[in-house]
Amino acid sequence: MRKNINKLNSTFSIQSFEGGYDKNFSYILTCLKTSESIIIDASLHPSILKLSQENKPSAIFITHSHNDHVKYIKNFDDCFPGIQIVGHPESKLNTSKNNYIPSMHNSTVKVGKLNIKTLHTPGHYFDSICFYLENIIFTGDTMFVGRTGRTISNGSDIEDLYNSIYKTLLSLPKSTIIYPGHNYGEVPSISIRKNIEISPLLQASDKNDFLNKMKDYEKNR
Ligand SMILES: [Fe+2]
Repeated sequence: MRKNINKLNSTFSIQSFEGGYDKNFSYILTCLKTSESIIIDASLHPSILKLSQENKPSAIFITHSHNDHVKYIKNFDDCFPGIQIVGHPESKLNTSKNNYIPSMHNSTVKVGKLNIKTLHTPGHYFDSICFYLENIIFTGDTMFVGRTGRTISNGSDIEDLYNSIYKTLLSLPKSTIIYPGHNYGEVPSISIRKNIEISPLLQASDKNDFLNKMKDYEKNR
């Protein structure tokens, strides 16, 4: 497990924790004006995030329902009864309806003074979501440092991934910093501009070119 603290500006901080199934990241995002915090992905046990009842998170935001990202939801629920779970409306998660907040595409959830926008980005998985605020975005397994997510599971769709990457994520300001769901790159997070520079899968000229590049990538793994 590795922990990093980023204080990106005066309105929020991000703590990142690495571990879980395969270099997974969980993040604590804190509004510095109100001290309210949330977790991004239940990939690591709550004890690793060193949370206490005094600084308990108000919610867990789930980027998609692959097991490695939701594994510890029940443990969070046990530690912090009533903690809210924010996720895709079609996700099937191990949590009660009472504390589940389905988040629609382009909707905004408030955390303290922060406005966190939900962007549905299917492709890696049908219920993939990115969470966007100010100059950063949590991209789950839709986009990593150095490449896109893969489309090899049931519930993946390569054409959806093309649209999510090229029409949604790459249309954000290029200075936006991505915080992915796994530490698969040379650095844990990166600007979209730099990520395009280092990632052939983010340099496709059109959909067919992307499909071919993805095929090559899978063939050479
Ligand atoms: Fe995944």
